[in-house]
Amino acid sequence: MSPSTLGRRPLVSGNWKMNLDHLEAIHAARDLGLRLQASDVASVDVSVHPPFTDIRSVQSVLEGEGIPVALGAQNCAIEDSGAFTGEVSPVMLAKLHVEYVLVGHSERRMHFHETDAIVAAKLRAVLRNGMVPVFCVGETVDERDIGLTQERLTAQVGAALTGVPTEAVASMVIAYEPVWAIGTGQAATPEDAQEACAWIRGVVASVSGEEAATTLRIQYGGSVKADNTESLMACPDVDGLLVGGASLDAAGFTEIVRAASRTGR
Ligand code: 13P
Repeated sequence: MSPSTLGRRPLVSGNWKMNLDHLEAIHAARDLGLRLQASDVASVDVSVHPPFTDIRSVQSVLEGEGIPVALGAQNCAIEDSGAFTGEVSPVMLAKLHVEYVLVGHSERRMHFHETDAIVAAKLRAVLRNGMVPVFCVGETVDERDIGLTQERLTAQVGAALTGVPTEAVASMVIAYEPVWAIGTGQAATPEDAQEACAWIRGVVASVSGEEAATTLRIQYGGSVKADNTESLMACPDVDGLLVGGASLDAAGFTEIVRAASRTGR
């Protein structure tokens, strides 16, 4: 184990995206609870991020059945309350014991025009309400092709974290999700994932200080499966995984959690 990984407990998260209605979600959460053994989560944290309409149901299953999985959300409003038709307040999420909230997922940036400024405001809304932001960054294939990966990551991290207190940054999660790897079956190589995650950690160090940078967890996301989990988790700067498609199946997601815990991080 690299000394730089010490103390960072891996987090494996399932982003269900816009899949599973509340009945299917109840089934999926129960199924996960039946499969996950105490040993699977002894050294790894696990979260699931269902659609908003499922969150109350999934909360009841996780808490009612004592399933060792944290509840997450995929997005939230910037404001705590008010005339914002169709939005979901971070206060409401916190009330349902949501622990982690995805912020700035590339699908939100792309399809819903979330700018770096909007993402920065959402990140603060999550922190203000005592939850942990899972702040998503990543370059597009075009940016990668013209050698702009590091520049893009630097800009995204700088825009979101500048001005956030150091202790809050230390408690956060950043998810490195190269857009070209999402839903394509073409995951980043461990070398590419490590390089990008190490770069991100360096940017955090320059924006928020060394201590925050060594404490904060960085996930990799994009076409994660059970059979690439161990090689990705072996990277010293990869502290967990953000899993999309492969998290919808409880058996497959359990395999990923198990493979992550086998890496002994
Ligand atoms: P896939 O695992 O389906 O590639 O999705 C990754 C993702 O976007 C998780 O947030």
